[in-house]
Amino acid sequence: MGKPQQSLAIVRTVAELRAQVTAWHKAGQGVGLVPTMGALHVGHLALVGRAKELAPKVVASLFVNPTQFGPSEDFSRYPRDEAGDAAKLAGAGCDLLFAPTVEEMYPQDFASSVSPGPISERLEGKFRPGHFQGVATVVSKLLLQCQCDVAIFGEKDYQQLQVIRRVARDLDIPVRIEGLPTVREPDGLALSSRNLYLSAEERAVAPALNRGLVIAADALRDGASGAEASAKGRAHVRQAGFDPIDYLEAVDVATLEPLLKLDRPGRILAAAKLGRTRLIDNIPVEP
Ligand code: PAJ
Repeated sequence: MGKPQQSLAIVRTVAELRAQVTAWHKAGQGVGLVPTMGALHVGHLALVGRAKELAPKVVASLFVNPTQFGPSEDFSRYPRDEAGDAAKLAGAGCDLLFAPTVEEMYPQDFASSVSPGPISERLEGKFRPGHFQGVATVVSKLLLQCQCDVAIFGEKDYQQLQVIRRVARDLDIPVRIEGLPTVREPDGLALSSRNLYLSAEERAVAPALNRGLVIAADALRDGASGAEASAKGRAHVRQAGFDPIDYLEAVDVATLEPLLKLDRPGRILAAAKLGRTRLIDNIPVEP
């Protein structure tokens, strides 16, 4: 006998989402939220797994948020497969999928936004103007719509995670924010919905981005300055065929300000293009 096909309840309005979460809360059950833009892979499902450890009920959201994409970015061609995503989420033990329409999230007269300050202006923020304002606004909305007890985000988007922590703290949103280490392919490539864009040749080259980060981390631990270590990492990534490299930089774990040397916990973050596909990655580095 095969495993019975699992199905997942899907709601599309904030009112329906609130009604379900309120019922769970009345029954004494905490709720975990996993926000996503769909095209789900094993990394997203690991977030659901972590949410299940932290709360008896788990909600995933699926919303390709237009306000976090720049005019020349991939909003219209971002991979979409709601039915496939719902099946994966059901299999991972998710209890509810919130999949709102653009109109539900941004009605005609929508006007406010959340601006996350200096932490959003460096690195990704420099190359994707307005991106983190879009992320901060939609994540604030999702946290307030869901009224969840805990929300789980991947370290894959490390700056995003730090931006969300900042916003939740600054706006007193009553939620615990949890980070989960990046899930990777065996060759080091971070799982990403955008990996679907890579050709076979590009896929073979892609792990060089992670390797560049490891090279920079090794150099830092060997006593190189932040600038020297980053240059070593960039050289490897460039030689592999990435072009341009938007940044590959060692920074302080919390402020994301440049790390001059390895005198405290750091993070090395990178973004670079392989053909038409822009990939990002980051790793921790400890003194
Ligand atoms: P998306 O890119 O779909 O990612 C959803 C969540 O999955 C994010 O928290 C992201 O960091 C995490 N994730 C992606 N790849 C991962 C990996 N390889 N290992 C672990 N976690 C991974 O990030 C977004 O969507 C959006 O910006 C969102 C937060 C939903 C707001 O629109």
